[in-house]
Amino acid sequence: MGVDVLYASATGNAEEIARRIHAELSDHGLEAGLLVELNQFVDAGWPLSPTASGTEFAGKVCVLVASTTGDGDVPANGTKVLRYLRDKAKPKKFMQGLRYCILGLGDTNFENFCNSARRIDKALLQAGAENVYLRGEADDGTGLEEVVEPWIDGLWDKLLQACSNSKGVPAPAKENGSEKIIPKETGAHENGDTLELPHPLELRVQLSVDSGDPAQEGTGHHKTWCASAAVRDMTVFNVSISAARRLTAVDLVDRRVWHAELDCSEIQFSYRPGDTVGVVPQNRDEHVDQLLKRVALPVGLSLEEVDTTAVKLVARDGGRQDIVRNVSLRTCFRDLVSLADAPKKTLLVALAQFCSDVADKRAMQWLASKEGREDYRKRIMAPGGWGILSVLDSFPSCLPSAELLLDQLPALAPRYYSAASSPKADPTRFHFAFSTVLFPDGQRGLVTGMLEDMCSSVEAGAGAELGPLRIVLGQKDHFRPPADLATPMIMIGPGTGIAPFRGFLRERQAQIDALALKNGQSAGVRGDAWLFFGCRHKDKDFLYDTELAEFVDSGVLTRLTVAFSRDSADGVKTYVQHRLLEEREQVLARLLAPGECRLYLCGDGGAMVRGVEDALCEILAPHTQNDLASARVLLKEWEKAGRYRKDVWHWG
Ligand SMILES: Cc1cc2nc3c(=O)[nH]c(=O)nc-3n(C[C@H](O)[C@H](O)[C@H](O)COP(=O)(O)OP(=O)(O)OC[C@H]3O[C@@H](n4cnc5c(N)ncnc54)[C@H](O)[C@@H]3O)c2cc1C
Ligand SMILES: Cc1cc2nc3c(=O)[nH]c(=O)nc-3n(C[C@H](O)[C@H](O)[C@H](O)COP(=O)(O)O)c2cc1C
Repeated sequence: MGVDVLYASATGNAEEIARRIHAELSDHGLEAGLLVELNQFVDAGWPLSPTASGTEFAGKVCVLVASTTGDGDVPANGTKVLRYLRDKAKPKKFMQGLRYCILGLGDTNFENFCNSARRIDKALLQAGAENVYLRGEADDGTGLEEVVEPWIDGLWDKLLQACSNSKGVPAPAKENGSEKIIPKETGAHENGDTLELPHPLELRVQLSVDSGDPAQEGTGHHKTWCASAAVRDMTVFNVSISAARRLTAVDLVDRRVWHAELDCSEIQFSYRPGDTVGVVPQNRDEHVDQLLKRVALPVGLSLEEVDTTAVKLVARDGGRQDIVRNVSLRTCFRDLVSLADAPKKTLLVALAQFCSDVADKRAMQWLASKEGREDYRKRIMAPGGWGILSVLDSFPSCLPSAELLLDQLPALAPRYYSAASSPKADPTRFHFAFSTVLFPDGQRGLVTGMLEDMCSSVEAGAGAELGPLRIVLGQKDHFRPPADLATPMIMIGPGTGIAPFRGFLRERQAQIDALALKNGQSAGVRGDAWLFFGCRHKDKDFLYDTELAEFVDSGVLTRLTVAFSRDSADGVKTYVQHRLLEEREQVLARLLAPGECRLYLCGDGGAMVRGVEDALCEILAPHTQNDLASARVLLKEWEKAGRYRKDVWHWG
């Protein structure tokens, strides 16, 4: 019985690691079983209705790799497994006999670090399976490979033991008490040394020239062939920007924030305050052109035909049925894969095989090797590091196949934006605010650059001539305004973190208006709604200032406290956390008053979150015998109980 490898992955990291482990099993004397998404566990022989005897799992050995997404969630292609494992109708310990190793991927910038792997691990143990290796927890915030590499190094021995124990034969002995050194595929380094390289992955994409025209994009629901793996299971809608305005002053060139409104009247789309919309990106034409000139095209296709001739793309995808698309090669490279994200080491190893120049080949192998990890980190992983175009620029003799790049470049993932509107007030429109991402080399972020062009054109009255926007809905059930108007709330949203709170306030306004209509003038008991906002300058980037003032005037917002970080005469920077501390007595009184005040935090950046949470702990300390550690525990408890809710993101 082979070792199955199962993965749950949102943006491809866990999938790539799972593929690598699967590819390397045979190098270590292990029989490779299936490589499938976690949701396809039935294919790995996990029966939907297991018997109490647990015989179905006897002797099975598997490796699981699971990233965490959303707010500590299992990625969509792995969610079914938790339901399966926790199903109370199943016999107790029905998975007895299964031995497994699990690797979690996460990011310590997020609250629930590696929560997905932790939950799956716990559920497997409760179902009677046996974990034969320490759970790995790799941190994308500091570099996944710090944990992934040593974890994989130690994995083989555990699997060999698990497999031989399953067969009732002793595990292979270690040589001289140390780990058995197993030969890996090696490449010669410039100095004649050998390098330790990851195993190249099995290619899962095939391209061939198809007769006929490439299929045209539909409107409304998007055809699945146009979706990258990152949005494959989601409904993709085509919408247009119907209104837009710049929220920051025109002379504030290094910080540009826009308000945009999506017209959703033509689509079956419903959202709630707190939800997000994911904008599905397309790579820029000039980058696609550049790439198309640097790939070996499928046999029978010339560069002149990359727009007009259909190619048949067949992809075996995570144990699913083959996905077949009949599209132009340009569409494939425009819509499916990311050209900016760091290429994985397994791709570099494969690219080395396409270098005709020996020096290029060696240098590429060096970057992919364990020995060259520092160079990989500096050149590829560092902010502004090489995407595939820079890699190909630096290795001029490398002419990879289009199949390889479509298979192994990271999927092009949607960028999410929080609803700044309420369906009660804006039933057919979704509002959001975005900050244009500006890079030191003068480039703009892929999506925010495109959105800015669209918004400028709409603001100038030119209409949505830049074509439809493709979106998916991202639900955020943990980030909702209180259902009851009587529940008090404190909202902390500096910068574009204000966006969901504008949505909350519009919802609140609509609720108050509806109640007033029903009950005459009285809208019943209303809890406090206190907003902390922060920006640089009062007259340049105070987002939604007029509307917020109106909310205060109408009583929808009971207090508005603002921090301007660059307006003070003495040059001292004041942020929202400083304002919170200035108001500490009032904040504490509200947090401890009956009525369970809700606390919300939204915005960009780990530093902001740390600053605000430190301030909150200081504020809570008098309530915890002036012990900051206990205050932190209390904040955590509130978070678990849903009294404190966060929606924070990190793009840099
Ligand atoms: C749940 C959630 C809600 C969000 N809500 C909002 C919101 O309401 N408003 C908002 O503005 N944002 C929000 N974001 C962030 C948003 O989704 C995007 O991440 C952000 O707008 C950047 O997208 P982009 O495509 O423009 O940038 P990208 O092109 O993806 O660039 C971002 C990263 O790419 C790299 N990069 C690419 N090119 C270069 C280069 N030339 N030089 C240096 N580095 C480079 C860098 O690592 C950079 O950090 C949210 C994110 C999440 C997860
Ligand atoms: C929108 C989003 C939400 C995330 N949420 C969490 C989280 O709650 N906890 C965590 O540990 N990591 C979180 N991460 C980090 C990912 O788990 C990490 O980047 C991982 O490498 C992604 O692997 P994947 O490409 O296989 O999905 C999140 C990443 C993104 C983009």
